[in-house]
Amino acid sequence: MKIQINKNTTPIVSPAVVISMGKWEETNLITLAWVARVVSSPPIMSISIRPSRHSHQLIETLGEYVINVPSKEQVEVVDFCGTRSGKKIDKWKELQLTKQKALKIQVPLIKEFPINIECKVIKKIMLGTHHIYLGEVMAVHVDEEFIDETELDSTRLSQIVYFDRKYHSTNTNILQRQGFSLK
Ligand SMILES: Cc1cc2nc3c(=O)[nH]c(=O)nc-3n(C[C@H](O)[C@H](O)[C@H](O)COP(=O)(O)O)c2cc1C
Repeated sequence: MKIQINKNTTPIVSPAVVISMGKWEETNLITLAWVARVVSSPPIMSISIRPSRHSHQLIETLGEYVINVPSKEQVEVVDFCGTRSGKKIDKWKELQLTKQKALKIQVPLIKEFPINIECKVIKKIMLGTHHIYLGEVMAVHVDEEFIDETELDSTRLSQIVYFDRKYHSTNTNILQRQGFSLK
């Protein structure tokens, strides 16, 4: 038997990531869970932001953002950036995070985070409580400790996923490789 739960619950994992927005001097950090890859080619990411967030005006002005992907050890930074507003504090300073120049956009990357994805907004959709920003990926940075020769080694990085209002870490054991069932 299945039990029906509240339809707002949608019990499926989402990434928990910290997005940087705004130019170097005014840049802010916000934690988002409504984040996904939505198109293969060109690579396009989707993020959703409530207009009430301080970050909203920054993305509206510049039309660029960086998805900074944390390791599981950075869970406190994730929670901090999702529970305080940049209207009142400088989250970079409070958390002693370092701004690193991006390659293709004006928004800085978080140096201490293992993966950074630079995006340029190509479309905005206003839907219900959130504004959805579709961003074309302009560059992807990965700390060298997670690279094996030239490829990302996913077994070296445990990320954070948001599920049922809790942070979980991804297990680095590979269950199977894509396409294994064809053999
Ligand atoms: C795990 C987590 C996920 C969140 N996901 C989103 C999201 O997808 N969209 C959103 O607008 N706010 C989201 N928030 C809330 C914002 O991060 C929070 O309101 C933040 O303090 C806003 O910062 P700002 O005012 O500096 O922009 C999330 C918070 C947490 C803790």
